Amino acid sequence: MSITVSLEDLTAQLEQLEAEAARAIAAAADAAALEQLRVGLLGKKGKLSAVLGAMGKLPGPDRPVIGQRANVLKELVSRLLAERLGAVKAAALAERIAAESLDVTAPCRHVPPGHRHPLISTIEEIVDIFSGLGYRMSEGPEIETDYYNFTALNIPEHHPARDMQDTFYLEDGRLLRTHTSPVQIRYLENNPPPVRVIAPGRVYRRDAVDATHSPVFHQVEVLAIDEGLDFTHLRGTVTAFLQQFFGDLPVRFRASYFPFTEPSAEVDVQWRGRWLEVMGCGMVDPAVLTGMGLDPERWSGFAAGLGVERFCMVRHGIDDIRRLYTSDLRFLEQF
Ligand code: DAH
Repeated sequence: MSITVSLEDLTAQLEQLEAEAARAIAAAADAAALEQLRVGLLGKKGKLSAVLGAMGKLPGPDRPVIGQRANVLKELVSRLLAERLGAVKAAALAERIAAESLDVTAPCRHVPPGHRHPLISTIEEIVDIFSGLGYRMSEGPEIETDYYNFTALNIPEHHPARDMQDTFYLEDGRLLRTHTSPVQIRYLENNPPPVRVIAPGRVYRRDAVDATHSPVFHQVEVLAIDEGLDFTHLRGTVTAFLQQFFGDLPVRFRASYFPFTEPSAEVDVQWRGRWLEVMGCGMVDPAVLTGMGLDPERWSGFAAGLGVERFCMVRHGIDDIRRLYTSDLRFLEQF
């Protein structure tokens, strides 16, 4: 027995399907729900297919009527799905834009620009002046061996000069360098003369803190080795440097002693009516040259070591070295 289906039945089913579909599509919240609806309505096992399946049971002349009606429905549902998909996507985008929006007219928070610490600018200025005189820059480690810090600089064990440079020792015998002079040795190991080099860096001494002493401070080392260098070259270089740094101030050389230079001198500048010691210097001791495998009959040179804090304090009229290390912005912002 075959079940007969009437044209009216199928038409009514299609109309119902259309109304149902329109409602469901309008209510779909997102793309996934719409896709689910599309499969349920227009898919192979969907509701439209079911109606069309029953079409074969209609009398022949009625079939195209339902076929046409079904096509109209299919197009309508496709269009509704596409429109709704566009709408939910636009809504999602609008929501995201609203959530991520920036108020570009909002007043900004002030982030104050930083600037160089006065000690760093002092080092840069010193390096600059020596660069202009043809010097290269080099650096060495702050943790040194006894050899580089003392022995190679003609300060053997038990030499009284060691007493003036007591420092901090590591368990393995290494130490925190007491001056930048070891960079002279390190540089000469890797660079045959002629040499013109400066080496800025941090140095350490076992010193109590007061207005003029700090256990950590900074030096710049100067070294020139060449044929025919003598004390006049040292004097000329140091004077030219000091006059560039401080302006045209009186400069005086005083005889002094350092184990690694001979003769040695300390240099003073006249600043606000009194003589201020600013650096040590001298002609590189032949013992240091020989230790580096250089023939002192052929090569000679001069060296100097200057305390950066002293230069910085004189330049800016700072009365207490501790101000340079306490990071008080009320002080630092003046520079
Ligand atoms: N290294 C010495 C110190 O820290 C300073 C110094 C003196 C360095 C004379 C030199 C020099 O290169 O020639 O006390």
